[in-house]
Order: sequence, then C-alpha cells, then structure tokens
Amino acid sequence: MNQTEKTMAFARILGAVSESELNGFDLRQFAMDQLDTLPTYDWSGIYRLEGQILYLDAYTGAATDHTEIPVGRGVCGTAVAEDANQVIDDVRELSNYLSCSAFTRSEIVVLIRKDDEIIGQIDIDGHTVGAFDKDDEKFLEELAEVLANRW
Ligand code: SME
Repeated sequence: MNQTEKTMAFARILGAVSESELNGFDLRQFAMDQLDTLPTYDWSGIYRLEGQILYLDAYTGAATDHTEIPVGRGVCGTAVAEDANQVIDDVRELSNYLSCSAFTRSEIVVLIRKDDEIIGQIDIDGHTVGAFDKDDEKFLEELAEVLANRW
C-alpha cells in the first residue's frame, strides 16, 4: 500500500468502527477484524489491564500462549510500566520480548486510556522489519479512543 492508500484505509476503518452499533467486546472484535484487512498487520489484538496483569481480549490471527502478561514483561508489559506506546522496528534486537510467532519482526503497542487511567492496549505484530511508524501510532490512538468510549 502506498501512503495515500494507507491513509484511506485508516479512515475507512475509523469510520466503520465509529459508525458500528456494537459496544464492548463485540466492538473490539469488530475493530480487530477490520485491522486484519491491512496488509502489514499480521496479528492484531487487545489486552485489558486488570490490576498488574494484561489479559488477552479480542484478537485476530494465530492463537498465542501469551494470554496473561504481567506489567513490566515483554513489549506489552513495558508499555504499561513506562506509560508509553511502543514502536519496535525489529523485535530481534530486544531482550525483553515475548514471542507470539517466529515470523514476527515488528510490533506496535498503543495504550487505551479512560479518564486518564490505562485500561488496556492495542497490540499489533508485523512480519516485516519496520512495519509501523508514527502514522500507525496516530491511527491506533484514534481507534483506542473510540474503543475506550464504548468499552
Ligand atoms: N510480543 C508481545 C506479546 C504479545 S504477542 O505479540 C501477541 C510482548 O513482547 O509483550
């Protein structure tokens, strides 16, 4: 996809999720199914934060062993511990990484917040190095806001 196609795909997905009449888990699953249509998004999932544990919620892609991740562990747990989104170009360079698939090269984690509290995160894996950038982060932040409002 070139930049224009990517921008249009992001707008299409934000529109579909915003206009959907779904709520809660069903909306989150619908959103993940929408993300699955993007060529570089090879695994798309939501983790819910409850206490100090991230629990796997809606997702599309292969089943993963990492259904519960403590805060501080892996890319997902680091995002919560540092209160910061994570954009990883090449997961092979990380020591604190929890592998879901041997094919994964890049990963992006965007926090979902409600009333300034972290309630979860969107986690995407890509099979190519450097699959995600600031545009993906901004898009996923907007998606996170829609999901948080109808959590
Ligand atoms: N890679 C993540 C674990 C979740 S899987 O990507 C689905 C991490 O290091 O936290």
